[in-house]
Amino acid sequence: MKLIFLGPPGAGKGTLAARAVALLKVPHISTGAIFRSAIAAQSTLGLKVKAVIDAGKLVDDAVTIELVKERLAQADAQAGYILDGFPRTIPQAEALSAFSAADKVVNFDIPDGAVLERLGGRRVCRNCGVNYHIVFNKPKNEKVCDACGGEIYTRDDDREEAVQKRLEVYRAQTAPLIDFYRQKGILIDVDARPSVDEVVENFKKALGV
Ligand code: AP5
Ligand code: MG
Repeated sequence: MKLIFLGPPGAGKGTLAARAVALLKVPHISTGAIFRSAIAAQSTLGLKVKAVIDAGKLVDDAVTIELVKERLAQADAQAGYILDGFPRTIPQAEALSAFSAADKVVNFDIPDGAVLERLGGRRVCRNCGVNYHIVFNKPKNEKVCDACGGEIYTRDDDREEAVQKRLEVYRAQTAPLIDFYRQKGILIDVDARPSVDEVVENFKKALGV
């Protein structure tokens, strides 16, 4: 199954994707995670995108589209994928439809207040990228990842100014994709407000899996 996860920052896309890969046996492809790995490795791509991401703005369409096109051409993505955080603009959605047709788009429905609460308490493993939350999903030790023992940190773009910018960018550039995909008849709305287990159940029901 070829899925797109669409939703505001902090809606829980990465958290649900981590649960859904086990269920659907497809790779989780997060453009944000790819960019963060590139930044950590100080690669040419990482050096190019770091300031843009830390400020909460979008990386330019051409760079992002090329990256996803190459990733979707790999063997493990042929039977399906979960695309998390791409597309995020109408030009990205139009480009994607020319090289891969998604079966369904999952729209994470959540108010701004919940997003701020989730991002304000998010912590991430620097090594494996697992998401934690200081209230809703605490690691056993606040500095060490339960899954791999890696260091837990706060993302640079989870600072308050960057979060406000990301929400603004979401409303202006990404939210129009809801109608874009609804008109194509492939959009599914999932209530992203309840607990992670309930969101997983809502997702399974909505997809019929
Ligand atoms: P990206 O990494 O995609 O960030 P984002 O879209 O802002 O989304 P987040 O990862 O912040 O949130 P999420 O929905 O995954 O929530 P999570 O599961 O962590 O992109 C980062 C940046 O890269 C962008 O700003 C941009 O600069 C660039 N970029 C990426 N893609 C791009 C593109 N296509 N084009 C251009 N630029 C691009 O959950 C959040 C918190 O809530 C966690 O602490 C979690 O534990 C907790 N939580 C999750 N679910 C629940 C729940 N049900 N109940 C309680 N707590 C929960
Ligand atoms: Mg994420």
